Amino acid sequence: MDNGSTGRDSTQHRVPHEDLRDLLRDFEAMREVKLIENADPHLEISALAETLTMRFPGEEPALLFDKIKGYPPGFRILSGASNSFRRLAHIYGLPTPEKKIDIVKSFKARTGKGPETIPPNILPTGPIFENILRDDEVDIFKFPIPFVHEHDGGRYIGTEDLVVMRDPDSDWVNVGTYRIIAHSKNEVGVWISPGKHGRLIREKYFAKGKPCPVLISCGQDPILFLCSNAELPHGMSEFDYAGGQRGRPVNVVLSELHKLPMPAGAEIVLEGEMYGDELRTEGPFGEFMGYYASDASKQPVIKIRRIYHRNNPILTLAIPSRPPSNFTVARAVVKAAMIWDEIEKAGLPGVQGVWNHEAGAGRLFNVISIKQMYAGHAKQAGMLAANCRSGVYAGRWVVVVDEDIDPSNIHDVIWAMSTRCDPAESIEIVHKLWSTPLDPILRGPPYQSNRAVVDACRPWGWKDEFPRVAESSPELKDHVMQKWAHLFRSGGAG
Ligand SMILES: Cc1cc2nc3c(=O)[nH]c(=O)nc-3n(C[C@H](O)[C@H](O)[C@H](O)COP(=O)(O)O)c2cc1C
Repeated sequence: MDNGSTGRDSTQHRVPHEDLRDLLRDFEAMREVKLIENADPHLEISALAETLTMRFPGEEPALLFDKIKGYPPGFRILSGASNSFRRLAHIYGLPTPEKKIDIVKSFKARTGKGPETIPPNILPTGPIFENILRDDEVDIFKFPIPFVHEHDGGRYIGTEDLVVMRDPDSDWVNVGTYRIIAHSKNEVGVWISPGKHGRLIREKYFAKGKPCPVLISCGQDPILFLCSNAELPHGMSEFDYAGGQRGRPVNVVLSELHKLPMPAGAEIVLEGEMYGDELRTEGPFGEFMGYYASDASKQPVIKIRRIYHRNNPILTLAIPSRPPSNFTVARAVVKAAMIWDEIEKAGLPGVQGVWNHEAGAGRLFNVISIKQMYAGHAKQAGMLAANCRSGVYAGRWVVVVDEDIDPSNIHDVIWAMSTRCDPAESIEIVHKLWSTPLDPILRGPPYQSNRAVVDACRPWGWKDEFPRVAESSPELKDHVMQKWAHLFRSGGAG
């Protein structure tokens, strides 16, 4: 049993579920998913999901929408699959955390145990081939494509998606999560931020005057979505990385036209080609930093020639919005564990914890806790975290704190910043790092942003004489917590 909720054997595999359907059965057993009927895909579904997230961040149920207005029963939308600490732990086969930082620690502790990557297993067929629509049969409006926010420029079929492309110069298959707008029954558009792997790959095809073959999975196991939007090194396939996370290969099947791999248990996959010389208006789209920072722009059109889908397909929905949003929990945890891993691999000792705060959309406010060991240690930690692959894109603040500060506890962090940091001496500005048109503080290209690296540790030179903290000892706290246990009931990873 995994986390006490399924009949499958989790001793054999890190991650016992095979696809989204397995996972939904687990979530039902865990009472972590709610069925909602008769909602409208035009604004209502996203507004409900967003409002619940804002009300119970990190603790709201996943929402499975069925009997969606205007669509046959069975054509469903799933929102926020990975957006609770319990569900996220279950998806990764990790223990349910008591405190937020626990899941970062258990995720990080897994690194190095077993191979980092395992290539996918290619099957002759799979459930995704239950229905295949070819050429003239293609109509993406068969699915309940949501209109997410009032000021968006259209309906987005791809939000919690996988966009699969093959590098034309090697056999590297890249998978990224990029938003996909529905233009017509057989045309969609994609927005990819400058510098992302998917953009570099498509530019190679366009430079040769060729269209770029592409698959878009619009519903799938959330572990694949989480790997797809993780900032992995250039040349590493997210399918291989997901295999490493699962502890066994991802099962894939090859598409009819371009022999690109798609998850055998995916829900809805579109296949076609992206054209560099055929552009159409894309956006605006409310984005993850909480703004409409970039206007509508002309972006390449993707012509869809195949739709593969399961019976009663499930479209997965991520709602970028004023944070915290319905994917921030996973973003905060995964990014924190990856930054921790990277800065350690760069040689930094003494890291106690990392957190990417939810209100910073899991990117803009990163906290590193260290046990200071030498002069300059804190600054080194901050500089590495600001510049490593997992932390460099679209950052703003990196705060380094001592080991007695829980980086995931914002009260702890603000206390450290307020009492151990001298703004005149302890803040380093790093200029012009990799950012994005989605950053509201940037008014135009080049999209580079400045970062503050805040040393909120006790000053190295006299840290041992720094005033004593005024609080009860851990032993005394334990004593009263045991004596009056009923007052201390845990509310989960709060
Ligand atoms: C819900 C969600 C939506 C995203 N949408 C986009 C997008 O529209 N365009 C983009 O460039 N990146 C987007 N990202 C970020 C990328 O998925 C992420 O940076 C990923 O590492 C890109 O893959 P790549 O490095 O292989 O290009 C999104 C991330 C999430 C979690």
